[in-house]
Amino acid sequence: MSLPKISKIFIIGGTGAQGLPVIKSLVADKKYSVRVLTRDPNSARAKSLLALGNVELHEGTFADEEILRSGFQGCDGAFVNIDGFNTGEKSEIYWAIRAYEIALQSGIKFYVYGNLDYASKKSGYDPKYRAGHYDGKGRIGEWIVFQNQVNREKMGAALFTTGPYIDMAIAAKTIMTPTVENGVVTWRLPMGTGSMLAVALEDCGVYVRWLFDNRERSNGMDLEIAIEDVKWAHFAKAFEEVTGHPAKYIDTSLEDYWKERETFGQMPAGYNAVPNDKSTMNVKDNFTGFWNVWKYSLLKRDYNILDEIHPTRIKTAEEWLRMEDKKGIEDGKGTLWDRIQGENLIPILKIGEDNWGGKL
Ligand SMILES: NC(=O)c1ccc[n+]([C@@H]2O[C@H](COP(=O)([O-])OP(=O)(O)OC[C@H]3O[C@@H](n4cnc5c(N)ncnc54)[C@H](OP(=O)(O)O)[C@@H]3O)[C@@H](O)[C@H]2O)c1
Repeated sequence: MSLPKISKIFIIGGTGAQGLPVIKSLVADKKYSVRVLTRDPNSARAKSLLALGNVELHEGTFADEEILRSGFQGCDGAFVNIDGFNTGEKSEIYWAIRAYEIALQSGIKFYVYGNLDYASKKSGYDPKYRAGHYDGKGRIGEWIVFQNQVNREKMGAALFTTGPYIDMAIAAKTIMTPTVENGVVTWRLPMGTGSMLAVALEDCGVYVRWLFDNRERSNGMDLEIAIEDVKWAHFAKAFEEVTGHPAKYIDTSLEDYWKERETFGQMPAGYNAVPNDKSTMNVKDNFTGFWNVWKYSLLKRDYNILDEIHPTRIKTAEEWLRMEDKKGIEDGKGTLWDRIQGENLIPILKIGEDNWGGKL
């Protein structure tokens, strides 16, 4: 039996760091058109998407059933990345479930869920690894795969499981923004000698496009991606190789890491999460679990399958740094070394641009 055609994809999170390359890749050859949910159709990011062509904007929030229903209406595909740093973990879980259910009711034929590893489960429920933004997505990822056992003919589904964007290592207002100290670019991170399964945003587009283009195979799949297992001392060395300027990684205790971020650490890990709700983790507790995931190299990836799906994928952090250096020069942003200087650093995350605030 041939699969139903997918031509129009409803996107949640399209103006975000992850959504932008996904949309670029979906509309590049006009095979797909997209409808992008945004709270602000006048933002620079929303306008940049319109300029790609085959893009329409749908104003509203994912935290509203009527908006979700009207967004899915008339589309046959969906890519859904619910922003848990807006809602907090508890509401993210609710809206992620409702988004799947309403997509199914609305006649969506293929649903791609922007997922993260269920780190608590993968650690045997060790509280050391508890990060609300990982568990909040990972639980729903498992739930979707389970629903899909029954629903797969009506609405296929796949998980797109990512990890920390490597792009955050050279951007402003992220959890791994560097500083230049006496001419040395320095990452002070609580990662020990562990490995981070960092992801290149550039490649996210290719992978999501593959999921939509190859539904016979991708229906029910959990596509877990990363560049490689990145050790931060190697990342700093690669930065030196690529730029010719000194760089270092300083393994930092969690205590010292949070001393530098006291106010941020006390904020709810979701700018619209209810602060005095006992289920709301603060940023410090949430990202302590996150850093432990990498410090103790909890998670794994199968790079063979990624090589098969995307043979020209970015395979090392050094390769990413080289590409990024070249691209920055071509785009008139300057070399990586120029871009990393404090006054030149720019946010990659929309939440950074929006200063961790906005409507639910
Ligand atoms: N940072 C990382 O390394 C990383 C890696 C993998 C996954 N994630 C996850 O990705 C999610 C965030 O996406 P991102 O990384 O692309 O961050 P981002 O650049 O900050 O983008 C946030 C996106 O969410 C949208 N959004 C926020 N609240 C919304 C609402 N109420 N209704 C509709 N859209 C809303 C924003 O759209 P508008 O502002 O246009 O409305 C924007 O498109 C989080 O759940 C995070 O855990 C992050």
